[in-house]
Amino acid sequence: MLPDPLPRPAAITNDEYRARRASLMAKLTENSAVLLLGATLVTRSRDSDYPFRQDSDFHYLTGFPEPGGLLLLLPGRSEGESVLFCQDRDPTLEAWTGIRLGAQGAVRQHGVDQAFENAERDAQLASLLDGRTTLYLMLADLDSMALADGVRGRLTARVRQGARPAEAYADLAPLLHEARLIKSEGELVLMRHAADISARGHVRAMCAARPGLAEYHLQAELEHEFRWQGAIGPAYATIVGGGANACVLHYIENNQPLRDGELVLIDAGAELDLYAGDITRTFPVGGRFNEAQRALYEVVLAAQERAVASIQPGATLTEIHEGVVHDLTAGLIRLGLLRGEVSARVEDESFKRFYLHSTSHWLGLDVHDVGAYRQYGTPRSLAPGMVLTVEPGLYIPADDDIPADFRGVGIRIEDDVAVTDSGHEVLTVGVPKGVREIEAMMVKK
Ligand code: GLY
Ligand code: MN
Ligand code: MN
Repeated sequence: MLPDPLPRPAAITNDEYRARRASLMAKLTENSAVLLLGATLVTRSRDSDYPFRQDSDFHYLTGFPEPGGLLLLLPGRSEGESVLFCQDRDPTLEAWTGIRLGAQGAVRQHGVDQAFENAERDAQLASLLDGRTTLYLMLADLDSMALADGVRGRLTARVRQGARPAEAYADLAPLLHEARLIKSEGELVLMRHAADISARGHVRAMCAARPGLAEYHLQAELEHEFRWQGAIGPAYATIVGGGANACVLHYIENNQPLRDGELVLIDAGAELDLYAGDITRTFPVGGRFNEAQRALYEVVLAAQERAVASIQPGATLTEIHEGVVHDLTAGLIRLGLLRGEVSARVEDESFKRFYLHSTSHWLGLDVHDVGAYRQYGTPRSLAPGMVLTVEPGLYIPADDDIPADFRGVGIRIEDDVAVTDSGHEVLTVGVPKGVREIEAMMVKK
């Protein structure tokens, strides 16, 4: 029987979006403006588009869900500081693709100060930006640069009539991404929920697993649960890797049979109101770890648990990664996969044969979320409101010169963790990771 759907958590309020815009404007230099483009529709094939996904930065500042948006922030402007351009109302198109909010709807439903439809963009943009000497925009985005250059060109052509084009462009990314790095309570509510749905998907896949199924059957179980629980779908391409496919870090074909005696690695997370969950679990297809699999699994699990336990304000991702590298290397030596002293094998990086990625990344509106990893040249300290993953793994190539039982075994264990005032909160506790808990769940089904 299908589970009852979870109640939906509260969405981010217009007051919070307004406060985010105000907080950003307070950080800008004198006499400046912000120009930020939303996402546009992307063609999938011929006349079919991919489902629309708003740009994360644009969503963070507006919550506006339609393609083709443009946000201007104009601090101090008496007619309104936040100005949104949006798709034109068009009854014929709306009959095919749904109601568009239009300028009135954008103001009424999303709380921007003023809105125009895109037909008015060219006529309005230059005058709105006239006299703003610094323009903040995404310097890495060619469309934003082209738009800003076009406005500058038009204002420059009218300098003798008194127009004043921007004298400098400044990168909006660092300011905005610092803000996104620290999650509000409203965001944490959504991230807990995204993590919870993700965990339920993993539990469902674990319970469904058995030899004879294909990798995509487990993907189907996961993604059914995500949608059932109100997520839009996966936050990134679901990875289901049976046997040695688990050693391919971004394996997404998911089309091979699941075999008894092998492990399967699932890396999948749900996207809920644009917030990502990101969980990895590795478990035996047939429900029981063999001795070599269990030994290797326990090494990864112990490293992962110690890393999670160390998360608190002031810790750094570098320290966490170094602890994981130490623990994995010590485990590899204990199991005879590496030889010598731990410090020597860490020093000469021979552990990289089996562990080649980093341990953590930020998590939020993007699965590999924004925010600087280093500050003033040094690893930055964790602070309350940050959310990160902890995902150590060991990947033993199928053709490596090591004991046969270990060959082609890939293991990763990944949880999502929020930093709190006093330590941390694991958001993904809903899916087991202990050997006994996993085996018990798979027996019970
Ligand atoms: N699922 C992508 C990652 O774990 O980084
Ligand atoms: Mn991850
Ligand atoms: Mn992942």
